[in-house]
Amino acid sequence: MKKIIYLAALIFIVACSSKKVATVSAPPAPPAAPVAKITNSFSPAVGKAPVMTEADFSSTVKDFRYAEYVKGKTLYESKCNSCHELKNPMSFPTAVWEKMVPPMVIQYNLKFTDFVDETGEKLILGYLVTATTPKK
Ligand code: HEC
Repeated sequence: MKKIIYLAALIFIVACSSKKVATVSAPPAPPAAPVAKITNSFSPAVGKAPVMTEADFSSTVKDFRYAEYVKGKTLYESKCNSCHELKNPMSFPTAVWEKMVPPMVIQYNLKFTDFVDETGEKLILGYLVTATTPKK
């Protein structure tokens, strides 16, 4: 009789502990949130300006030719999205680009080794100013 009581107690304990184990197993963790690129509220406008063809090309930047516009665009699109999304070239006026591009190029050159040189900086700025200035 005692044996049966012990056995019953043992079964009871085992049953309880197995329940505990069942409740301990946590639900699967939610997938980690993707690491966001730097964004800021100042310029939600992200995107691209209309692409000029050689025929409709016009620029207020002195001595800025179509070939340079194309080079500047390529440089801008390959370098300036390294830390944040590309700003829409049309979302800032000329004065902002003139103020922002030099420190941004410095930031780029501090972080990456395929440096943007002075010519590259001029091409990027020329492209941005050309894109943001209303066409004649
Ligand atoms: C090394 C990382 C890095 C690179 C490369 C970089 N930026 Fe930035 N940029 C930042 C950070 C960080 C901010 C946010 C700082 C702030 O709020 O002013 C920023 C802000 C800006 C802003 C300010 C306007 C806004 O949206 O608040 C402009 C314009 C800009 N970047 C343009 C450029 C251009 C053009 C290039 C390419 C020459 C470039 N960035 C490359 C890090 C970078």
